[in-house]
Amino acid sequence: MTFKNPCKPVVLTGDRPTGPLHLGHYVGSLKNRLDLQNRTQPHDIYIMVADTQALTDHFEQPNLVRQCTLELVKDYLAIGIDPEKTTMFIQSQIPELCELTTYFMNLVTVSRLERNPTVKSEIQQKGMQESLPAGFLCYPVSQAADISAFGLPESGNILVPVGQDQMPMIEISNEIVRRFNRLYGPCLQEATGVLSPTARLMGIDGQNKASKSLNNAIYLKDSKDILREKVFQMYTDPGHIHVQDPGKVEGNMIFHYLDAFAPDQEQVHAFKTHYEKGGLGDVVLKKYLFSVLDDLLAPIVEKRHTVRDQDAMEILMEGSKQARQRVQEKMKHVRAAMQLDYSKPMATDPGLHPQVSL
Ligand code: TRP
Repeated sequence: MTFKNPCKPVVLTGDRPTGPLHLGHYVGSLKNRLDLQNRTQPHDIYIMVADTQALTDHFEQPNLVRQCTLELVKDYLAIGIDPEKTTMFIQSQIPELCELTTYFMNLVTVSRLERNPTVKSEIQQKGMQESLPAGFLCYPVSQAADISAFGLPESGNILVPVGQDQMPMIEISNEIVRRFNRLYGPCLQEATGVLSPTARLMGIDGQNKASKSLNNAIYLKDSKDILREKVFQMYTDPGHIHVQDPGKVEGNMIFHYLDAFAPDQEQVHAFKTHYEKGGLGDVVLKKYLFSVLDDLLAPIVEKRHTVRDQDAMEILMEGSKQARQRVQEKMKHVRAAMQLDYSKPMATDPGLHPQVSL
């Protein structure tokens, strides 16, 4: 059989620069990005620092967003994202993405945006119920633009490695893309989310998912001492008081993290059996988990120290230049499809169906 699609698959993803990356990001999405980057079949990979999106809920802290933009790229470089293979860029440096967002705004209803479960819980969490900025409600529309601006007709669906919480964004993005194509002609490609087996990593408190705002996450840049402190603070089984007591594995954060990170899952299985029977203390397990996480994080922390701010910024500026050229090319097709290319006569395409309703 001949290989029908010699074009590289396109990958686009990103993060809001509002704080350092943590282990939840690592298992949820960063590991998949590294796997895609290091495949033998090359992929066309873009990773975006979503500063414009970060401003939708941090518009009062532009300095924080600016500072975190650099930190985010240092995190990417530290885990092994390679600027030779992956284009890293800044969202705001591609104004065409705002333009595409504006066109997309017409293709989705306010009530559809209000039904997005991720946005709904963010509104709750941030206490935005009373005064919801329009920009925040609409960030999934700009995310649809971020994704679809990178598609190529011959490369199939755009792959988007993200955490589970981003799946509603991909759904809305695909609805917008299908509507666009029906109205203006086939121009945009749909997206496929790439999820990891650990869709959701809990925080060390065992109560919520790992998150910066809840201060319950282990950061990729945490030093050995901080890592040890956090592992030893982890929520385990409050009923497991004496070493010989039988302990609970379910809801126990040590096992939750071992499931996600320990390379030797047979050992983890043996620990679980022993713990449930009784006779295995938390301290032994915490020491083991510390060594597992330290093996992962120590080289990342070390690499991070070697990245100079100036180099990180140069990588971003060069990446932004390349990404912008790519988007500018795409936008020519978008504008032509929408009858906005005034250098050409208006297309009288009988295939257009302007009566398509939302
Ligand atoms: N919403 C993502 C986050 O919260 C960031 C993001 C913006 C993104 N645009 C994207 C992710 C496009 C994937 C694709 O971190």
